Order: sequence, then C-alpha cells, then structure tokens
Amino acid sequence: MGYNINREIKKIKERVGEERVISALSGGVDSSVATILAYRAGVNLEAYFIDDYFRKKDEYIFVRNIFAPLGIDVKLESIQDEMLAVLEGVSDNTQKRSKFRHVFYNTFGKLIRLSGAGCLIQGTIKADQKMLEKGQLQHNVGVDFGKYGIKKVIEPLSELYKHEVREVARELGLPKEISERQPFPGPGLLLRCLGEIKKEKIDLIREGLAVAEEELASYNPFQVVVAISDDLVCSMRDRAVPDKYMLIVRAVESRDAMTAKGIIPSQELKDRLEDKLMNISNKVGRVLWDPTNKPPATIEYI
Ligand code: XMP
Repeated sequence: MGYNINREIKKIKERVGEERVISALSGGVDSSVATILAYRAGVNLEAYFIDDYFRKKDEYIFVRNIFAPLGIDVKLESIQDEMLAVLEGVSDNTQKRSKFRHVFYNTFGKLIRLSGAGCLIQGTIKADQKMLEKGQLQHNVGVDFGKYGIKKVIEPLSELYKHEVREVARELGLPKEISERQPFPGPGLLLRCLGEIKKEKIDLIREGLAVAEEELASYNPFQVVVAISDDLVCSMRDRAVPDKYMLIVRAVESRDAMTAKGIIPSQELKDRLEDKLMNISNKVGRVLWDPTNKPPATIEYI
C-alpha cells in the first residue's frame, strides 16, 4: 500500500516539533493508530477520550486499559451534559450531525487553549473524505478548524482505507482488540437514533449494541449496528397501546465500508438475540432485522 510507518513518524515529528499535541482518541482503529504514531514520534502528547454520551458501553474503561500498558495515559473529558443539552429534542438528521460536530470540535478548541497545545492529531481516513464527496456530512472532514482555535491538524492516515489502517495497526503491534475492532462512527450512537434524540433511546441502543456484538461475534462481522425507531409500536407486552420502541439490528460484511453485504443470521441466533434484546428493558417491544446491502442502503441510518 506504499505506507511507510517510519517516514510518517518522522513527518509527524517534523510538523509538531516541540509543540504539545492533543490526540482525539475514541478507541477505534483509526484514532488509535494515529495516537500511537504520534507517541512513537516522541512528541509531547496528550490523548483524550471524549465522552459525549454517544459512545459504546464502558468505552472509556476499555480504551484506558488498552493504552495504559502501551505507555499512554488516556484522559477522560466528559461533555455528556453539554452534548445532551444541545442534541436532545433534535429530529433533523443534518442538524444532528452538524450540532454534534460543533460541540465536539468546540471541546477540542477549549482543550487546546487550556493546555497551550499547538495541534490536534486525528485518525481521518480516505473513506471519510469519500463519504463527504458523496454528500454525507462527516464529523471530521470539511471542518472549519480555525473557528475553534485549532491552528494545525495532523491526519497521518488520510490516504488509507480501513483495511490498510488495520495493516498498519498490526505492524505497529497494537493488540487485536484494536487492530481487528469493528468500526464505530465518530458521532457514535447518534447516527442510529431515528427521529428525535432522547436520552432513553440512546441508553437502549447502547445496551442493545453490547448484546448484539456479543451474540453476533461468531459471524465475524465487519460491523454490527443497533438503531432505534422513533414511532412507538405494539407488542404482546401491551397489545392495546403502541408504547414500545423497536430496535433495528444489522450486521454487515465489508472490507472498506464503501460497499457491504448484509448478513442473515440463523433462525436460532435471531431468536436468541431477540429474547436478549427484549430483556434489556420493557420499553423494547419489537426487533427488526435489517440485512440490506450497501448499496442500496448505507451501513448507518443517518
Ligand atoms: P455509511 O453509513 O456511510 O458508513 O455506509 C460507512 C462507514 O463509515 C462510518 N461512518 C462514519 N464514521 N464519522 C465517522 O467517523 C461519520 O460521520 C460517519 N458516518 C458513517 C460507518 O460507521 C461505517 O463504518
């Protein structure tokens, strides 16, 4: 793939010099590789995990525990209240993405000002750029960084696709939990909440994703997605009043996320997963399996 790790590490060192660098570390393979490259470059690095309420279950603990033995002390910056205050009640999908992006980079702007850092390092990859070109607002590309006081942004993976980033991760000796990890979008669970953003809906998909990822692991999927309906539906839990949410589950095979094949589970697995998802909360009334390929669909819902 023509990617030379040592050359990239050298380039980071040259661009950063003695300045402090802040890394946006979500725990996905892209941001993890970008962070490790900066660490290997020996720059003055601070890695932040931003908890914006749209992360996976127990995600900060996972990230901290992966990076501590590698010599990186990942700091937690919780912006849950701020993010929820901005996003709860929003139904328009473009607004969801743009408001998320604003709060996200505003946070990094503040961290940069407070720490006196000179730049931000992030794991933007080629697919992010391609998605933007296809008209989908990405959380990390096309951002007016200057507006947030972020003067320099380093993106050492911007020419690579996901499978190539995984190769770099393996070469760097990152643990399998990272190099083989399923992708998770920057705006996280936000992209899986249909209709109005509500805290209780996010809580349900966070729990649902943990269950679905575990149950579907035997299929070795590229990505598992659990989304939630906005309209309330009937179920045998309460026949008279449609007052339950519908969880939508999908698992896909893919190499680079540009195309994907929807997985159809066995009857046995579907039944077991359905039971487990219904058990998360009596607010769940139905489970819908979505095996649509990409194209025509996208992997995420928003
Ligand atoms: P779609 O839904 O466009 O997703 O088929 C393709 C891949 O990109 C991820 N994705 C995102 N990742 N910021 C990200 O970091 C985003 O705004 C974003 N939107 C989609 C998605 O999870 C899938 O792996």
